[in-house]
Amino acid sequence: MSVQLDDFKTRQREAWSVGDYDVYGAQIADVGELVAERAQVGPGTTFLDVACGAGNATIPAARAGAQVTGLDLAPHLLEAAQAKAEAAGLTIEWVEGDLEALPFEYGSFDRVVSTFGHMFGPRHQLVAHEMARVCRKGGAIVTATWTPESSAAAVLRVSGSYLPPPPEYAAPPLLWGSEDHVREMFAAVAKGFEFERRVNWVVAESLEQWADLFLGRFPPMVAMRAMLGDRFGELRQQVVDVWRDANEADDGTLRFPQEYLLSIVRV
Ligand SMILES: C[S@@+](CC[C@H](N)C(=O)[O-])C[C@H]1O[C@@H](n2cnc3c(N)ncnc32)[C@H](O)[C@@H]1O
Repeated sequence: MSVQLDDFKTRQREAWSVGDYDVYGAQIADVGELVAERAQVGPGTTFLDVACGAGNATIPAARAGAQVTGLDLAPHLLEAAQAKAEAAGLTIEWVEGDLEALPFEYGSFDRVVSTFGHMFGPRHQLVAHEMARVCRKGGAIVTATWTPESSAAAVLRVSGSYLPPPPEYAAPPLLWGSEDHVREMFAAVAKGFEFERRVNWVVAESLEQWADLFLGRFPPMVAMRAMLGDRFGELRQQVVDVWRDANEADDGTLRFPQEYLLSIVRV
């Protein structure tokens, strides 16, 4: 399938197509598991994972017996997801596509979810509209987004300050981490909301070990290193400072929380 993209999304696709997503994907795998659990899927449930990456929510939903589709902008991540699903003996439909123009009919899925993916769609109202459009009435939309106060949000803000300004129509991704924003975006279609504040813990042998892993392999960081050249050292220092401040371990290791908002929107 070929997808029409503007420059901003072409850059986004490139940024998610380099490096090695596995390190980060493994770090947030628990969130995908929880989102699939909160979506309450079972045999026969139709389930769409929007911006599925390498399948963190997609694969647990398929394991629970749901009929699952994973959509993402980055073909390279879809291939990784497909390989994982096949190794687990799971059949999943993988679709290359843009979350602001979901290539599905009205009411196609019982559950529509996104873990840290929908937040990267620049037009939030359009993103909400698309997720709600493809979710059948009586279904649910389940999302996870870093809260604005979280350490992950601080890293995103620092990194964003080194990027060219986004287009004027792009809203800040972290807005999705606040309950008020989720309520506002789905106000026209929601029959009810449930929210949970949860924590994903980063645990590593040391701050340096995590920094080398994350900054050396996380796709957008690999893209930024290529873009910034020598200035990447400055960015690295600022990101490391965020993690040092958030570190709760006092034995030379690293253990810090990344808070996120899990939202369930009943439609
Ligand atoms: C942080 S990753 C999250 C991936 C996955 N949901 C997970 O939990 O591991 C963000 C994902 O959003 C995807 N993405 C970004 N913009 C997108 C768009 N406009 N349409 C579809 N996917 C998009 C990226 O390719 C990437 O896989």
